Amino acid sequence: MFNKLKVKLDRYGQSQLLQFWNELNESEKNILESQINEIDFDYIQDLIASHVLKMPETSVRGEIKPAPYFPLNPASPEDKELCIKAEAEGIRLLKEGKVAALTVAGGQGTRLGYDGPKGTYRITPVKEKTFFQYFAESIKKIGEKYGHDLKWYIMTSRMNNPQTVGFFRENKFFGLKESSLFFFTQGTMPAINYEGKILLSSKYSIALSPDGHGGTLLALKNSGALAKMKDDSVELISYFQVDNPLVSVANPAFLGLHSLRNAEMSARMLPKTGPFEKLGNFCMVNGRLEIIEYSDMPEELAESRKTDGSLKFLAGSPAIHIISRSFVESLTASGKLSLPWHRADKKVPFISPDGQVVSPEKNNAVKLESFIFDALPMASRTVIYEARREEEFAPTKNPTGIDSVESCRAMLIARDAERLERAGVKVPRKANGSPDCLIEISPSVIIDDADAAEYCLKNPIAPEKGKALYVS
Ligand code: UTP
Repeated sequence: MFNKLKVKLDRYGQSQLLQFWNELNESEKNILESQINEIDFDYIQDLIASHVLKMPETSVRGEIKPAPYFPLNPASPEDKELCIKAEAEGIRLLKEGKVAALTVAGGQGTRLGYDGPKGTYRITPVKEKTFFQYFAESIKKIGEKYGHDLKWYIMTSRMNNPQTVGFFRENKFFGLKESSLFFFTQGTMPAINYEGKILLSSKYSIALSPDGHGGTLLALKNSGALAKMKDDSVELISYFQVDNPLVSVANPAFLGLHSLRNAEMSARMLPKTGPFEKLGNFCMVNGRLEIIEYSDMPEELAESRKTDGSLKFLAGSPAIHIISRSFVESLTASGKLSLPWHRADKKVPFISPDGQVVSPEKNNAVKLESFIFDALPMASRTVIYEARREEEFAPTKNPTGIDSVESCRAMLIARDAERLERAGVKVPRKANGSPDCLIEISPSVIIDDADAAEYCLKNPIAPEKGKALYVS
């Protein structure tokens, strides 16, 4: 076994992976052998040359214009009419079971610094429910409301899959039928140091990390999820991130617009809070839709303004998509998918030649990830649909500050308070306008304004100043 591996690795200059071979027992040797065999070295060596040993080309060339989007509150009678039709179409799709929810939960959540899969983090402000429970309640409610169980696909990584699945089992799948859930695991990529060498994380294992949320597409195919969707007559995938509990899990108007326009991949957009908010920018590059990462967006374009003072490039991406199953099928038909790779410089712990674990203080290696939004330019038709940030986007990246646990909880409270007010409930507010109480609505009873209105007619609700209210 050793000789065969050595010949192969010598050819690629990666024989450091075998440096502890003589110290390994049989099962360790098998683990290392199978990890080495999983790597497509021809492909990785090309990537090392283009993305590690030199900086990949990130500057965007050509004419860049803001991408058009469909407004949340359209002005023209035709667009108003289209909105009404879209909502009805989305409801039809949900009633007929043509939609599946897909949560990407394979990330490492390093910024949050929580020890466990991010989906198991307790996020809600009153009952401290986890992200997963909160989504599960919405999914159950959608099934009840539209008379057809909503299938739920959850993408994990190899590192967090056992813990994630175990968590669902311990919690009896939060009352969902086990058969309506499908866990699948994304691919991995090795970490590579600045000399172009693949790193070991232990004497017998390669330093691997998830291959980015763009890995979703190929993982859907390779795991059999795509085939299962076809068997279940699922046509549309409602895609969202595990750390955004505010998202509407399957939004009828968005689904309907995508369907009526025969789109292949669609996206929600938000007006950015400022030129440099850390969101991807919806742009037309040489006439083609693209999302340009905030870090790659030319500064003068990010800052450019219209005559009324508003940002020219206003549309930011909250990573909420509808993706047609048939689009994923065609993109992955060959068993390969060529989304571009993005380089991230990181501190990656590794085993030094003397066998010690080194935890570097500076970036020492490159991780390569692909991004789901890079599939948008490959779609023949797309819809970009505006969303109200307060109703759709509360990303939880950090413990405190911007895009944090704190800001997410505040947004959940604010959204639920507004929802109750629209249903006629009086909510105590502070001088600055924020709710002067904690409010949490269980998605198992209310997921939209219509549910809230119906609920409040039957159940008197009176939030009290300074107190916590849980509506269930
Ligand atoms: P982020 O880009 O915020 O990454 O992922 P992260 O891993 O959660 O957090 P940091 O950057 O380490 O702090 C956005 C969404 O994409 C998923 C995440 O789980 C999250 O829902 N994701 C990210 C994957 O599913 N797989 C990946 O390889 C990367």
